[in-house]
Amino acid sequence: MTKKEPSNLMRKSASALFADSAADQSDFLSALLDPAPRGNAVLWTVPRRLGELESIDRTTLPDWLPDEVELIHPGVKIGHSAAYLAGDIYSLDYASVLTGSALLTAREFLPAAPRVLDLCAAPGGKSLLASVLLKPGLLLANEVEAKRLGILRHNLRRCRVANAWTQRLAPEELAGLAPAAFDLALIDAPCSGQSLLAKGIENPGCFHPSTVKGNARRQLWILEAGARAVAPGGGLLYTTCTFAPRENEGVIDKFLAKRPDFETVAVPHLKEWRSPFSDFSGYRFYPHQVPGAGGYAALLRRAGDPAPPQRAGLATTLLDYPVVSSPGEATAS
Ligand SMILES: C[S@@+](CC[C@H](N)C(=O)[O-])C[C@H]1O[C@@H](n2cnc3c(N)ncnc32)[C@H](O)[C@@H]1O
Repeated sequence: MTKKEPSNLMRKSASALFADSAADQSDFLSALLDPAPRGNAVLWTVPRRLGELESIDRTTLPDWLPDEVELIHPGVKIGHSAAYLAGDIYSLDYASVLTGSALLTAREFLPAAPRVLDLCAAPGGKSLLASVLLKPGLLLANEVEAKRLGILRHNLRRCRVANAWTQRLAPEELAGLAPAAFDLALIDAPCSGQSLLAKGIENPGCFHPSTVKGNARRQLWILEAGARAVAPGGGLLYTTCTFAPRENEGVIDKFLAKRPDFETVAVPHLKEWRSPFSDFSGYRFYPHQVPGAGGYAALLRRAGDPAPPQRAGLATTLLDYPVVSSPGEATAS
């Protein structure tokens, strides 16, 4: 098989990301062009059953890894496992676990049973992580694309996610119906998806400046809408699966200039992945350095001393579509 060659734009991007290390540039490009087989992570939605799945020795993984997460050996299929068929596990890229693990830090300042909004939710990985790690009193999972909404509902139902509702609203519309109504908003933003290459998925044009620019503009809108839904003292988690600084640090930088009432929060267990491209806290993961495809995470918090966050009421129409029948937070408004 002929070896794939990086495009000029990919090379340029690698040199900008790793200006001081030719070895990193080369390893990064190889991880994108010739991805090694990698295993997915698995999230248990019930207490983890030891030894049931063929997973990587836990002692080789970070010690902060939540007990509900394990990393499956490359090539092992779990779709027919008893755990999957019972709805007890959900499979996701390990990079999603890394970026989503900032929730462990958010948990320290959020109230018990927080009200969580997942603004870009399908197929459901971050909603499931939030459900397992935060045990929300109310989880509103929103997805704008009709087809993807169906997949989201299917996944949340299969895993019996409690206290969850779905919506299909434009972010600004949703924010208008729920100003300052959530303790935490998750913005796992649509992006140029450069890390998809590390999963062997074709993604033409993902390094093109116009792709990056268009995504960055959309990400800022979505982030601003998400921020309007966050109560004083509440949190905001911004994540992407791309490497372009403009879509990551650039978006956070512009956002902080517009919303000085937010600041980034350091995530101590991710400190080795701290981005060198900003003065504020943000974390970058690369496919040649972690057993996942890569991405970016920044955790933010809205100023406002009150603990717990002083959230406003929520329009009851937002709770028209429960995931499973459950009394949940019946007095949401
Ligand atoms: C990275 S994916 C989310 C992945 C999901 N959070 C998970 O962990 O499984 C981004 C999602 O944003 C949705 N999206 C696309 N355009 C959007 C927009 N303008 N506003 C909000 N969401 C959008 C996409 O349909 C997609 O489902």
